[in-house]
Amino acid sequence: MLFDTHAHLNDARFDEDRAQVIQRAKDNGVSLIVNVGYNHETITETIQLAETYDWIYAAVGWHPNEAHRCDDQALSRIEELAQTHPKVVAIGETGLDYYRDYASPEVQQIVFRRQIELAKRVKKPLVIHNREASHDVVAILQEEGAEQVGGVMHCFSGDEALARQCLELGFYISFGGPLTFKNAGKLREVARFVPLDRILIETDCPYLAPHPLRGKRNESAYVRYVAEELARLYQLELDEIGRITLENGKRLFGLP
Ligand code: NI
Repeated sequence: MLFDTHAHLNDARFDEDRAQVIQRAKDNGVSLIVNVGYNHETITETIQLAETYDWIYAAVGWHPNEAHRCDDQALSRIEELAQTHPKVVAIGETGLDYYRDYASPEVQQIVFRRQIELAKRVKKPLVIHNREASHDVVAILQEEGAEQVGGVMHCFSGDEALARQCLELGFYISFGGPLTFKNAGKLREVARFVPLDRILIETDCPYLAPHPLRGKRNESAYVRYVAEELARLYQLELDEIGRITLENGKRLFGLP
């Protein structure tokens, strides 16, 4: 039993065979998926997926790379969905991305802060995107009281110090395909440091396919490779890692 806590199955790269991809996830032991919408279009598609499959849930938010296109109406829609739609379990992905400069850091920070406030109002956890912005992400999470709702650091790629700060805020640490990359020795060291009851697994598909599929289109079935890597690191059976990360995800997202 595996929980892919971060997928973009709505992506156009799945248009040709989406139903087969979802069936393949199920056939490979994936029993829960959170699909993540991050702008108007992908939120609509994410809600459609969550309404079609009873084992797919939705996170809705606004991506930092699109922060310059976020307005009051966009945030109102996210808030209304979070309050009224039974399949919406989290706010995100939100956060900061200083690697890309589509939106200025200042604008990204405003939109990030507003989504933390929103998450606190609707009492749902946050899904955090962080790229080359660790210092500001942690500072804003602390300043805005994000520990009141908690959340997950999606596709974590930081060091042990960052992991510790996020754990202190009550956040979960989610690992994806990069944990399996040959040159990811440092990240594997960090993963061993994170308490087992705070680890999640994800694909971020169609991006970041795990080794040995690196560079190919990723899909939810491949979350198994991440679980296998964790099983090696913790010297546990795959089933045990699957069970623990499934329970962690259910706890965070409030699933039965
Ligand atoms: Ni994502």
